[in-house]
Amino acid sequence: MTVLIKTVNELKSKLSECNKPLGFIPTMGSLHDGHISLIKVAKDECKTLVLSNFVNKLQFGQGEDFEKYPRDIESDLKICEDNKVDIMFVPSHEEIYPNEEIEIVTLPVELTDILCGKTRKNHFQGVATVLHRLFNIVNADFVYFGEKDLQQLYVVRWLVANKSFSATVRSCPIIRESNGLACSTRNKYLTKDEKDTAANIYKALKLAKGNVRSGIFTPGKATLESLVFLSKIPKLKVEYFEAKSKNDLSPVSEKKVSGFYFLTAVHLSGIRLIDNIEV
Ligand code: PAF
Repeated sequence: MTVLIKTVNELKSKLSECNKPLGFIPTMGSLHDGHISLIKVAKDECKTLVLSNFVNKLQFGQGEDFEKYPRDIESDLKICEDNKVDIMFVPSHEEIYPNEEIEIVTLPVELTDILCGKTRKNHFQGVATVLHRLFNIVNADFVYFGEKDLQQLYVVRWLVANKSFSATVRSCPIIRESNGLACSTRNKYLTKDEKDTAANIYKALKLAKGNVRSGIFTPGKATLESLVFLSKIPKLKVEYFEAKSKNDLSPVSEKKVSGFYFLTAVHLSGIRLIDNIEV
């Protein structure tokens, strides 16, 4: 049975007597197959598993979807129970940010001023700030993140390395819907037709990877080719499509044929979708 806990004190007291290793999956709820894949990996290596369910206002910019972000605690609890999560932690804003006393985490600009950070100002600072607080509360041995939010994963690794957390960061592969669209809470905003259109995002990523791996194009040329492909799909508006090194998300040399990612953010009917592929 999954225990639902709402306060930091109650969670800490429950965790003081839990079996180790302790695993932790931070989420904003509205759990989908991507989250379930994290739960499965975590269950395999941890004796106790905590999943947090908190829509973090700090990581939403003005005009973004904080208010309408899907929330469904009952369905999330059912998913946690079905998958044997031990604790679902559902704190209030005040519980996480008491009296607005917040230690804001400042990240290196090399991580925040690229890719999604160019348009989502302060987003990663908001993510790092809530994770700093949650990691301190849970004090887990393992933390689990999906590779769809790839830039976020690099932020998490930076946070653990630079803020003295002892947790091991595990990253799990992207889970896709049957048409190739990466699983995301925001897919709930899309109609069936829009999802079919959005499936072209993954096609563009695969095209770029194929063009590099077969030696036809350099990463830069492959990027242009995929941008042309996406420009022909009505309703899709590309925010960025870029190649970044696997090492640290720095720019990729034109000589590279592996050891990097193509990452993209695309807008469709007012919904922002991100995806990536490793080359
Ligand atoms: O990926 C998410 O759902 C959120 O960014 C996270 C990591 C739970 C922080 O609020």
